Amino acid sequence: MSALTPVLSAFWDQKDSFTIAGYKRNGGYKAVEKALSMEPDSIIQMVKDSGLRGRGGAGFPTGMKWGFIPQGDNKEHYLVVNADESEPGTCKDTPLLLANPHVLIEGVIIASYAIRANHAFIYIRGEVTHVIRRVQQAIEDAYKDGLLGKNIRGKGFDLELVLHVGAGAYICGEETALLDSLEGFRGQPRLRPPFPAIAGLYARPTVVNNVESIASVPSIIEKGAQWFASMGTEKSKGYTLYSLSGHVKNPGQFEAPLGITLRELIDMAGGIRAGHRLKFWTPGGSSTPMFTDAHLDTPLDYEGVAAAGSMLGTKALQIFDETTCVLRAVLRWTEFYKHESCGKCTPCREGTWWLVQALKNLENGEGKPEDLDKLLDLCDNIMGRSFCALADGAASPIISSLQYFRAEYLEHLSNGGCPFDPAASTIFERAGAR
Ligand SMILES: Cc1cc2nc3c(=O)[nH]c(=O)nc-3n(C[C@H](O)[C@H](O)[C@H](O)COP(=O)(O)O)c2cc1C
Ligand code: SF4
Repeated sequence: MSALTPVLSAFWDQKDSFTIAGYKRNGGYKAVEKALSMEPDSIIQMVKDSGLRGRGGAGFPTGMKWGFIPQGDNKEHYLVVNADESEPGTCKDTPLLLANPHVLIEGVIIASYAIRANHAFIYIRGEVTHVIRRVQQAIEDAYKDGLLGKNIRGKGFDLELVLHVGAGAYICGEETALLDSLEGFRGQPRLRPPFPAIAGLYARPTVVNNVESIASVPSIIEKGAQWFASMGTEKSKGYTLYSLSGHVKNPGQFEAPLGITLRELIDMAGGIRAGHRLKFWTPGGSSTPMFTDAHLDTPLDYEGVAAAGSMLGTKALQIFDETTCVLRAVLRWTEFYKHESCGKCTPCREGTWWLVQALKNLENGEGKPEDLDKLLDLCDNIMGRSFCALADGAASPIISSLQYFRAEYLEHLSNGGCPFDPAASTIFERAGAR
């Protein structure tokens, strides 16, 4: 069995892990001292060599993204940290920020120095008030300690860090919608090119990275690129946070090398809840095609999950046992995507509405068998024909659930409604959906 590799989560059980004193006691802010003595370009090279890939979902190589920022252009550069985290099932950045906000701030200082940015922003969703307070306090403490502001640690590097609180919209996690929102506009995705590295925030070169991506940087600087690259698989290097939720005995965050399997993670989580068995699961949040118990041994790295027909996404492993109606779960997610569609393009704005209608009819046993193909046809007209990946995410659970559970959809029709006992599954009652 693969072992856990706690780095980001190593000190979460300490009472003061979130304070600057606690962070320093555990070796925090040593990496920043080292980084500020290095050439910015060698930091970018080190992050490239480590193989770190973005933890926000797409898995884009972080060092390469930093390398796209033009140098010597006499323009302001910006670093923007994406802390919007609103994909259903995704719940890693919020606990990380609560338990250890300083590891993100340390990563922000190093990344900003590397890309020659003197202004950085953390964009966080407005609902998580307790996390906002904690991160704001950590920023204030870092300023007081001379880790932010003018002439950091006497090295001639200046950095202002602003925490920006969004109003809570899933689309504002999409990096260009986030930039529009940060500029004070309605959050809707931008046409690309130009990409943010060329014209991002205020039309200036900008790096947008996920919380976990930036928080992984201090450990790479301190322990070395080779140390990081020694974990994980050939093209998916390092450790990462896997979030197990749903029908497991002990849900939570499991920090492990990329490439671990769900079978191993479920073992670590104490197994599926007593007396039940795994039915379906998401490898990376609700917008990644679902898997079944046939995929328990799929390596959870970017390549392994893609080869099996899904995406690693945010590593949000939502586990559902045999008491859960797959149609019901998919309908709940589709309602979310319909609600969160920003309305910019027709296939997504109208299509998600039609998907909900069709699924509701099926759930009530009111549809026809042909409606299953109509659903797939709707998905076909949405996927790849919309402006951003939100729409693809809406279609994914429908297509994959029909691939694995077509008979269960049809059973709703022959049964005249849902054949499952809603009281047997704890998922929806806990979420308060019914
Ligand atoms: C609808 C939608 C929502 C997204 N939400 C988030 C989010 O909450 N957090 C995040 O880091 N990335 C999110 N992303 C991905 C970002 O657009 C972007 O790829 C990511 O922030 C880049 O950071 P990384 O390279 O460090 O992964 C979302 C993308 C889409 C299409
Ligand atoms: S796909 Fe949906 S969320 Fe994305 S731009 Fe179009 S309407 Fe907005």
